[in-house]
Amino acid sequence: MRETPVTPVQVTGTVLTTRRVDAYHALTVVAPGIAERFRPGHFVGVAVGGARTSMLTRRAFFVHDVKPDYGGTVEFVFSVRGSGTAWLAERRARDTLDLVGPLGRPFPLPRDPVTCVLVGAEHGAATLFTVADALQGRGCRVDFVLGAVSADRVFGALRARRMGETTTLTTEDGSLGMRGRVTDVLPGVIADVRADAVYACGPMPVLRGVTAVAVEFDIPVQVAVEEGMACGIGVCMTCVLPVIGDDGVTRMVRSCVEGPVFRGERVRFDDVGTIPFDALGAPGGGTRHAG
Ligand SMILES: Cc1cc2nc3c(=O)[nH]c(=O)nc-3n(C[C@H](O)[C@H](O)[C@H](O)COP(=O)(O)OP(=O)(O)OC[C@H]3O[C@@H](n4cnc5c(N)ncnc54)[C@H](O)[C@@H]3O)c2cc1C
Ligand code: FES
Repeated sequence: MRETPVTPVQVTGTVLTTRRVDAYHALTVVAPGIAERFRPGHFVGVAVGGARTSMLTRRAFFVHDVKPDYGGTVEFVFSVRGSGTAWLAERRARDTLDLVGPLGRPFPLPRDPVTCVLVGAEHGAATLFTVADALQGRGCRVDFVLGAVSADRVFGALRARRMGETTTLTTEDGSLGMRGRVTDVLPGVIADVRADAVYACGPMPVLRGVTAVAVEFDIPVQVAVEEGMACGIGVCMTCVLPVIGDDGVTRMVRSCVEGPVFRGERVRFDDVGTIPFDALGAPGGGTRHAG
């Protein structure tokens, strides 16, 4: 069953702490309205650049953690990619940030105490610890597979080792854990722990690979996608991707409001960035009743 979205709020929050975690920056912001509505898999839209900026669109970040301090804080983790994240990396304690959240649909959680493998690549790993917490709260067993290009980009290895029954680490350059990618080790982990479900967050190619492995094992997989987003609230259509519905029909859906969490096998990863000819409403095809 899919989780229903919550009504987001806009908050001007004070930055409580900033910290570096290897290649990443982590910002904790006092944002009670967002913290109290948060569920694992939600993200926030952060205004960047200050009052006179030309950077008009909010930047999306998955929430890494929420705490009850000061009425409620949210923490997000990011690496510098362009001008917006460079500006965020310069924020200091007591600065203010304009946040909208929580956004998107969170991860659905199993009713029964099953065994779940949580797969995180690059900063996607930061998204998984609240998921792990919620799963363990339901009596689920949690095993982690975390990976990145290099050791400094593997987020949360120590915490995963504390929380997970097992933690398997991979790096492409071999500087930490096994040399390779998360998808190289995932089949072995799923088989060893007899996993019932997979949860994943990371770049699209990783999610595609993780989904293929889960499908091979015939177990459900929930993925949190990061499709480029301009508004984050369902208005602009920049974040659409082709997803197969319960009725077998492909629709172009907005990942900011219908996602970012989807059943992996429903996302047409090979067609992301295009409108497949058989998608509902696609030029020249894709009607609900088509053959
Ligand atoms: C749901 C979600 C969660 C995310 N969580 C994290 C996280 O936890 N940590 C992290 O490091 N990164 C995360 N990202 C990626 C993060 O949003 C980008 O790294 C960030 O927006 C880069 O901003 P920038 O100004 O530094 O980069 P720039 O590349 O200079 O600017 C990015 C700008 O381009 C826009 N843009 C990007 N792609 C498109 C597109 N296809 N169509 C239209 N506009 C586009 C963005 O909205 C933004 O305005 C997430 C992205 C999404 C969608
Ligand atoms: S980001 Fe604007 S509709 Fe999804």
